[in-house]
Amino acid sequence: MNHPLEDLSRRLPGLRLLADAGDLEHYGRDWTRRWTPAPCAVALPASIEEVQAIVRWANEHEVALVPSGGRTGLSGGAVAAHGELVVSLERMNRVLGFDAVDRTLTVQPGIALEAVHAAAREHGLIYPVDFAARGSCSIGGNIATNAGGIRVIRYGNTREWIAGLKVVAGNGELLELNRSLVKNSSGYDFRQLMVGSEGTLGIVVEATLKLTDPPPPSQVMLLALPDMDALMQVFAAFRAKLSLQAFEFFTDVALRHVLAHGAQRAIDGDHPYYVVTEFDAQDEAATDRALDVFGHCVEQGWVSDGVIAQSEAQAAALWRLREGITESLAPHRPYKNDVSVRIGAVPGFLHAMQALLAREYPQIEVVWFGHIGDGNLHINVLKPEAMADAEFITQCEHVTKLLAATLQEHGGSISAEHGIGLVKKPYLGSTRSAAEIALMRGVRTVFDPNGILNPGKLFADD
Ligand code: MLT
Ligand code: ZN
Repeated sequence: MNHPLEDLSRRLPGLRLLADAGDLEHYGRDWTRRWTPAPCAVALPASIEEVQAIVRWANEHEVALVPSGGRTGLSGGAVAAHGELVVSLERMNRVLGFDAVDRTLTVQPGIALEAVHAAAREHGLIYPVDFAARGSCSIGGNIATNAGGIRVIRYGNTREWIAGLKVVAGNGELLELNRSLVKNSSGYDFRQLMVGSEGTLGIVVEATLKLTDPPPPSQVMLLALPDMDALMQVFAAFRAKLSLQAFEFFTDVALRHVLAHGAQRAIDGDHPYYVVTEFDAQDEAATDRALDVFGHCVEQGWVSDGVIAQSEAQAAALWRLREGITESLAPHRPYKNDVSVRIGAVPGFLHAMQALLAREYPQIEVVWFGHIGDGNLHINVLKPEAMADAEFITQCEHVTKLLAATLQEHGGSISAEHGIGLVKKPYLGSTRSAAEIALMRGVRTVFDPNGILNPGKLFADD
């Protein structure tokens, strides 16, 4: 161990520190698998005081820190490739309390999203943010990226569900943000500033989450669509008549991958686009309404086939067709774009994007899917086996630059829900103005004067 790490061990004799090659690799990377992990060590604090002491030590020794949760991120936000100390919050993974009057759950940052769901259910409530990585991602990481997922259409992003936060700022100070107050008009809301800050302003060490009532019983439908223009028409028709919990889309290319990965086909024939939708169905009237909308969409030529789940198992099987996509694509090392536009701007943007991708990736397989009801599209570009990694990335980065310009024209965002991290930092300027980025940098300096928190992420020339 080098000198600064010896000093850290001296100051915190109880701190768990890892430095084996296997640990450095495991904790130094996220799901992007693009950068070679190279942290100097991994610290696994067990208390807020230990996190504060690590941050103070890092300031003194000018050591960069990478806050780390489940490392399921898709933008390189938790990658440690330059000798940083990884600060893994995985040991701080407990539920600390439930407040029945406030209907809040206080948790440590390393708790998995799925464990939060389970803890809320124990009290007859739900924590509604949800997505496929629920078993491995951590709530701290969710907060750092303002994670979205499959229920945003009903419940919004992580941001909506944070009642209060405890955060260790870049100078080691412990901040208690918003005190879980429902009403608090007392100046700047630093709690919300922390949400989506990607570990560059502070390390979340405790979160108080809002909970809510479980939704009414629901039904799940899979729809096959003949063309892309039908997508938003079907969405408008379903949203007008039903209370939607989810409205997700994917292409036939995505379906092919997910079927090859073990999912069961639910609709016969070839159809270019699919939608999985879930809606409140507390009574027969709601189901009848859904069947009416479905019939109307078929009559209009917007839907060519469909199936409504008859059991929970069938509903899960339909959801698997959408939720299994990421895992089915992982062996192809996809380059991921995660973009959004206003819902009303989706049709125009989809056309522009389809033309761009067809022109720029003539020989490369591109898979589209996403939370189309939120205006959020995931574009996954699959690396051809024969193509060298570097050539593939160069080509994808070239196209992403063009995509960023298209997004700018349509008033969209280069990152809807995965964050900027390392992957998207060259394109931040397509979503944020120069004046905004300058202010963001200024804010960063206030919270982290020595730039020790996750340097190199978010900002292009950092
Ligand atoms: C999803 O919607 O499935 C997630 O954002 C993961 C992904 O985009 O791969
Ligand atoms: Zn997503």
